[in-house]
Amino acid sequence: MTTHVTVKAGSLLDGSDEALVAFCGSGERSGDFRKLAAALGPPFEQALKGCGFEGKADQIAQVHTLGRLRSRLVVVAGLGERSSLSPERIRQASARAIQRVREAGCATVAFGLPVDGLNSGEAGRACVEGVLLGLYQFTRYKSDRNGDRAMRRLTLFAPSRDLKTVQAAARRGEIVADSVNVVRDLGNQPSNVATPTYIADRARAAAKAHGFSCEVIDRKGMERLGMGALLGVAKGSIEPPKLIILTYRGTGRRRAAQAPLALVGKTITFDSGGISLKPAEHMEQMKSDMLGGAGVLAVVQAAARLHLSRPVVGLLPATENMPSGTAIKPGDVVTAFSGTTIEVVNTDAEGRLVLADALAYAVKRYRPRAVVDVATLTGACSVALGRHAIGLLGTDSALLDRVKRSAHASGERVWELPLWDEYYEQIKSDVADLKNTGGRPAGTITAAAFLSRFVGNTPWAHLDIAGSMWSDDARHYIAKGATGAGVRLLIQFLIDAEASA
Ligand code: BES
Ligand code: MN
Ligand code: ZN
Repeated sequence: MTTHVTVKAGSLLDGSDEALVAFCGSGERSGDFRKLAAALGPPFEQALKGCGFEGKADQIAQVHTLGRLRSRLVVVAGLGERSSLSPERIRQASARAIQRVREAGCATVAFGLPVDGLNSGEAGRACVEGVLLGLYQFTRYKSDRNGDRAMRRLTLFAPSRDLKTVQAAARRGEIVADSVNVVRDLGNQPSNVATPTYIADRARAAAKAHGFSCEVIDRKGMERLGMGALLGVAKGSIEPPKLIILTYRGTGRRRAAQAPLALVGKTITFDSGGISLKPAEHMEQMKSDMLGGAGVLAVVQAAARLHLSRPVVGLLPATENMPSGTAIKPGDVVTAFSGTTIEVVNTDAEGRLVLADALAYAVKRYRPRAVVDVATLTGACSVALGRHAIGLLGTDSALLDRVKRSAHASGERVWELPLWDEYYEQIKSDVADLKNTGGRPAGTITAAAFLSRFVGNTPWAHLDIAGSMWSDDARHYIAKGATGAGVRLLIQFLIDAEASA
């Protein structure tokens, strides 16, 4: 069900699509609005008045053209005050509009640019993102899919002077949205399907299709490398663990000499808690404890599709966390790849164990210029920030600033938590170098403090997506279920790094 995206020079009313969408600010009449009013006559404005449409953010109205235009339906999407206009507004308005268009049974749609107050590139990209994200549905296991309607074509109309800019921006928007939707699919897939082996297969196929490479280290390889922390978590499951490594070499000329950026994503395909078993309520959501890794896969793929110049390496330590006769037990001590010994006081703090080995391995093997990890790491992060922000922690303030800037530009929110020395007291063990939990206080921080012990001096940032990775309800471009949190931010981070190359 792919939607074909095209950009054309001209005005919205040139469209022969089944539905036309015009944006409109509070109390304003955009160019498209005036043209529609001229074409449809007084009934147009009367209809809008009748449903209370004033152009406020979130407002949406639809008007049937009754044969006065080639299109069947006109949707007007409110953008609110111009002073608070942003790409995020466009993303949200586009998603609401496309949902109306789909409900009305239209399979082709056109949107009009420019939007007063934003440059056409920004608006075009946000519009494509909003539409493609807003159309997302996960219906793979529904027998009755008659309700599924494909949106065959999305056309953006832009002034001819902006055509090239909008085409490039729309292409970026398409790649960003595709990436997020791929991640949503992986997170919504049940764990009996999305096993470590399945994710490794998907990674191999993606590498082949998009021109990057994929290497998979299996249990034997992990044993040879001494990855005791990752293996400790994998011990309880009959699903074979995989350490999936993706390398994108970049298109830059001196790329061989360039240290890559390393991305590491927690990939627990099901987190039962292990012997420290989780309560039954909401446990089914733990099929999505692999969303960090899925995000890394999608971001490396996006780097390749965008032909970015700089090299990127992605690491996905993938395993289930299960209770069994062979499972790791509270109090067990493991030796990580780095040589650090860890007392596993709670088997449900498994994410930091698999990340410890993947981070240390990434740093040792690739000598990256920076490493960023993404993980559904702590319930405490969702207590602190809810689902509206990604937790951000790290040791390198310049890197953290760059992550914050890219987050802002992408429309995703991050919020920094401190990593002060005092917190490290909580993860000291009586029997080993570290223990894997620091108790209830500051759970997100002590988890990050633990990770920081495995990156040495490499600039490092950590994204805790435990709160933001899942949504219990649908709103504008966010679908119910896996959200794809972190993906837009990381792709933007790579794009922004191009400029400073
Ligand atoms: N995957 C969970 C964190 C999580 C919880 C993500 C809810 C999304 C929603 C993680 O492995 C975990 O179980 N963390 C424990 C850590 C504790 C044992 C120190 C937690 O948050 O309770
Ligand atoms: Mn856990
Ligand atoms: Zn987990």
